Amino acid sequence: MEKNLIQFLSIFSESFENNVISKITISFKNNIISENIIDGEIKAIYIKQFVSKNERKLSFVFRYPTKDITKNYDFFEAKELIGSLIGVQFLQADLFLQNASHHLVFDKRGKSKLIKKELGSERKVEEVHNKIKKRIVEDAPFLRLLGVFTAEGKLKTDKQDKFVQINKYLEFFSQSILSSNISDNFEVVDMGSGKGYLTFAMYDYLTRILGKKAKVKGIEYRQDMVDLCNNLSKTAGFEGLSFVQGTIENAEMNSSNVLIALHACDTATDEAIFKGIKANAQIIMVAPCCHKQIRKQIKPQDELNLLTKFGILEERLAESLTDLIRALILEAYGYQTKVFEFINSEHTPKNLMISAVFRGLDEHKRIEKLNEVKALKSRFGINFHYLEKLLGD
Ligand SMILES: C[S@@+](CC[C@H](N)C(=O)[O-])C[C@H]1O[C@@H](n2cnc3c(N)ncnc32)[C@H](O)[C@@H]1O
Repeated sequence: MEKNLIQFLSIFSESFENNVISKITISFKNNIISENIIDGEIKAIYIKQFVSKNERKLSFVFRYPTKDITKNYDFFEAKELIGSLIGVQFLQADLFLQNASHHLVFDKRGKSKLIKKELGSERKVEEVHNKIKKRIVEDAPFLRLLGVFTAEGKLKTDKQDKFVQINKYLEFFSQSILSSNISDNFEVVDMGSGKGYLTFAMYDYLTRILGKKAKVKGIEYRQDMVDLCNNLSKTAGFEGLSFVQGTIENAEMNSSNVLIALHACDTATDEAIFKGIKANAQIIMVAPCCHKQIRKQIKPQDELNLLTKFGILEERLAESLTDLIRALILEAYGYQTKVFEFINSEHTPKNLMISAVFRGLDEHKRIEKLNEVKALKSRFGINFHYLEKLLGD
């Protein structure tokens, strides 16, 4: 991405976080390009923030020659759309803040300049702060330790996306926790915990915010990450939070209540779900990563075969089928299952979440769901799905 555009988007993120955006204008259509990202009839876009269901969002007014169409986006969607349009379909973006304005201008050869203008008097900004639901986690000490906030308690500019991701994740995590019949002594296993941002966040949420006794364990095969996280956990005084070196495949899980696996590659997600089902976990939450296992097998019947004609569509078909079968298998094993978009972030392009809460086994439902899996497999020429194989269904 172009340097000035990155800088512009970073000012946009920071200004949104600090609630100082008055409006944004996107204009000067680039008539040279042949393919448009949004409708080529649109002449300009006017963006303002507003509050919906306690959340700040951005309203985009798309100006056509004879009409206006309004669409609303959350912060990440808005940032992504703005980033994809400027310098491509439109040549200018103007960001008007409370005390200044920033103007990003591209010429037709793709060269850009970013100009800042200070304002003498304050521009009006929509009063939205006091209408907004507070985030689940604000400036908690562990966020300073993990380097999301500075030692002085300021959110770091390059960690804004991470901070929103942590809160978004906690929102879904808390919904699952609060809708389950889980007891007060929690055991959570985070498979493939990486740098541990979400593992720390879960522990902090369960112990500090919900006041539960929780043991949270991160399993990770990179020893350097394990050492880093264990040191930080010790410094934070998080007695029940530990990290162990190992693989998802060989992890011992006997009595954990909650199993998490975020962005574990390909069949590692199946291994994690399998471990969760076998341990009778009440909650299983996974955000799958790459989906290679059934892609090689897919051979759809009849005209459905056209779905594999183009590589990208074949890839998406493999993703959808892999995750649909995972969700159906979880339902077969008594889990109420939801599949939804977790977050739209550059950090997390794979943003699908499968969230499952155990409600009880039902033999009739089990047969019905496994028959659905069987029918899908036969229609799409799939020999086996890895999770199904692990479970021996
Ligand atoms: C993409 S990172 C995600 C980290 C973290 N879960 C998150 O969402 O921020 C995936 C992590 O899982 C680890 N990992 C992948 N496959 C694994 C496996 N089979 N066993 C243990 N760790 C694994 C990798 O080393 C990496 O740190």
